[in-house]
Amino acid sequence: MKKQLGPQRRMYPMPAVLVVSGTGDRASMLTVVWVTLAGSKPPALALVVGRRHHTLELIRECGEFTVNIPSTAIATQVDYCGMVSGRDHDKVAESGLTFAPSNTVGPPVIQECPYNIECRLMQEIELPTGSLMLIGEIVDTQADESVLNADGTAADVALIDPIVYASGNREYWSMGEKIADAYSVGAELKRD
Ligand SMILES: Cc1cc2nc3c(=O)[nH]c(=O)nc-3n(C[C@H](O)[C@H](O)[C@H](O)COP(=O)(O)O)c2cc1C
Repeated sequence: MKKQLGPQRRMYPMPAVLVVSGTGDRASMLTVVWVTLAGSKPPALALVVGRRHHTLELIRECGEFTVNIPSTAIATQVDYCGMVSGRDHDKVAESGLTFAPSNTVGPPVIQECPYNIECRLMQEIELPTGSLMLIGEIVDTQADESVLNADGTAADVALIDPIVYASGNREYWSMGEKIADAYSVGAELKRD
């Protein structure tokens, strides 16, 4: 039996990331869980961001931002960055997180996040729901050497240990175990 729940603003699972924008002393960040890849040529991602957020002002000012993937070890700081505004808080000082230079964009990356995506704002889209979607071209990526796979070409998600956000319950989770290889295990069901 299925229970009808009606229209729900939920998705399972969701990543939790820290988005940084602004440069120098003005750089600040917010927590975002409405985030997805949005293109491959060029590589792009999409964020849904509240209109009144201070970080949106910074993104509009400098046209660039970074998306930083936190590990579970800094869930407290991630939550904090989603609870106060950079308009009246110095989130860097208060969270204890530190900034490091990006390779290609003005806004910094977060040192304590093992995987960092550097983006240039491509488009701002007013969604029919009233929400605002930002499309960012991914212009570079950096990763801590400690989270790279054996041949050093990509990050290993288990080593990143990313935070999974459980909408509805409003909880942070860690990932479970690998269950299968994608584009592979499904072949077991092929009949020809
Ligand atoms: C778990 C969590 C998820 C959030 N997800 C989003 C999101 O996807 N988009 C968004 O605009 N705000 C989101 N927020 C809210 C902002 O992070 C929050 O309002 C923040 O204080 C805005 O900071 P700013 O004014 O310095 O930009 C989230 C907050 C939390 C705690």
